[in-house]
Amino acid sequence: MKSIASAPGKIILFGEHFVVHGTPAILAAIDKRVTVASSFTDNNTIKVNSELGTLEVPISSSYEVKNEFRPFVYLANKMVGSNQNVNGLEITINSDIPIGVGLGSSSACCVAAAASISGLFKELLSEEILKISIESEKTIFPDTSGADCTVCTYGGMIEYPSIEKIDNTFDLNLLIANSMIPHNTKNSVEKVNKFKENDEERFSQLCDLESKLIDEVITAMKNNDTTTFGLKMSENQKYLEEIQVSNETINGMISSLKEISIGTKITGAGDGGCIIALVKGENVSKVSALLPKDKECFSAKIDTKGVEWKIEK
Ligand code: PMV
Repeated sequence: MKSIASAPGKIILFGEHFVVHGTPAILAAIDKRVTVASSFTDNNTIKVNSELGTLEVPISSSYEVKNEFRPFVYLANKMVGSNQNVNGLEITINSDIPIGVGLGSSSACCVAAAASISGLFKELLSEEILKISIESEKTIFPDTSGADCTVCTYGGMIEYPSIEKIDNTFDLNLLIANSMIPHNTKNSVEKVNKFKENDEERFSQLCDLESKLIDEVITAMKNNDTTTFGLKMSENQKYLEEIQVSNETINGMISSLKEISIGTKITGAGDGGCIIALVKGENVSKVSALLPKDKECFSAKIDTKGVEWKIEK
């Protein structure tokens, strides 16, 4: 028996970093997914197969493993721990989400793994999957806001912390461009914490500005106002630059798209990773020629489906 679950990657449209400090954020699931298949074995081990390699460790709740495998071992131990007659588990991860560039690869893996591994024992409700996926993500990144796992669980576009889907009535032509510079979310979040410690007053102003900006974005969406939506993306980018999570490469990419984009910003932790650009339909095909040759670029479709789960006999 195989328990198979998939979850979408994500983009953060507005509010990354500030969300860690309690402001809302707007996120959307994208049409790139990770699939996790789990099955029982008789090997007394937890075996994880992924494109990052294979790990096989004895079943033990205290076993320390490399960062990227920790959520899976955590989830497997959590499930096996309460089921004495299980001898071993094998977990296989397949993903079409680029790793470490702010598209939610890690959160989607945590959500799909939580649904897949728990599904060997019983089908969980979405809120239970979300709860244990956030616990597992905390084994690599204790300060996570939980926003990424939330949108990977429910899909669509949400204003976090709400899980209600935002009905975006206008067609967003969103392009994702990958700087090809991997980033480390934990380090970027720590850098922002330092900024906050050094200038509490300005950081609190920026959080207020971000909350106000998100209210304006919600109104713009209700009014089908793409121009304001784009302007707010660029305004949000300025806040991200001020807290120092942008860099020369990212700023260069943003400025290359200046002529054709309605709005452009980092998506995710920054310091590399991806940018998102809102462009008019007729300009979509011009984007890749404007960016440096070594950057990858693709269009993002919003995925309305969140986590999905099935059993294969
Ligand atoms: O770059 P990513 O996909 O790890 O996104 C991080 C988003 C942050 O707001 C910086 C952190 C968080 O937990 O929300």
